[in-house]
Amino acid sequence: MRIIATKDYAELSRATASLIAAQVVSKPDSVLGLATGSSPIGAYQKLIEWYKAGALDFSACSSLNLDEYVGLTKDNDQSYAYFMRTNLFDHINIKPENLNIPDGMNPDAAGECARYDAVIEKFGGADLQLLGIGRNGHIGFNEPGAAFVRGTNCVHLTQSTIDANKRFFAREEDVPRKAYTMGIGGIMLARKVVLIASGADKAEAVAKSFFGPITPEVPASILQLHRDFVLVADEAALANIPG
Ligand code: F6R
Repeated sequence: MRIIATKDYAELSRATASLIAAQVVSKPDSVLGLATGSSPIGAYQKLIEWYKAGALDFSACSSLNLDEYVGLTKDNDQSYAYFMRTNLFDHINIKPENLNIPDGMNPDAAGECARYDAVIEKFGGADLQLLGIGRNGHIGFNEPGAAFVRGTNCVHLTQSTIDANKRFFAREEDVPRKAYTMGIGGIMLARKVVLIASGADKAEAVAKSFFGPITPEVPASILQLHRDFVLVADEAALANIPG
């Protein structure tokens, strides 16, 4: 595990975008595993800026998004498909046919999970997987549980995740209760994993995940076993680490 410690969110976003840019420059047909949520927005803004300045070309890249809410159409402004379009894809030259994300409108959970696992398998995993971290240590929507789940799965979101995500919805009742998420196996298949942690509300999850035992009760802790894992975290998120 490598830690890039930054002063604040702006520095963290720049450092994260630099890692993604380095990936795209060194392998133009990279498979980028991407995340939604507030953590990666600053990094996506930097990538857009560098693309517009002519420094980056995404035309041969593919994307492999982590997760999607069940029951939201791609055009619902709370869907992760919509988030990715508005925060990144609409502003760079990645090709629409190269975008991959679970289909939240497929009512056949087993079928959708199998379909997405086949997509991940076809690529052999992402070249670089970007992650945020939940306050409970979740990655993707892999919530704390009794065992690590390998494949893409349909999860019932925990109250902690619903509480964290309700800020994006008009009412708590509007937060979907289920999501399709890439499993831990799909995430660990990535050749490089970059996890962004920013702010004091992530400090406990960071300490438990990367400085505590590896346990499915803290899903991100499995990243300690990944051969090329980079934690990009700001001072506030690193506040609880030992030493
Ligand atoms: C998003 C995702 C989630 C978030 C996590 C942190 O695609 O898979 O695991 O990364 O919930 O969310 P933010 O960044 O909003 O704090």
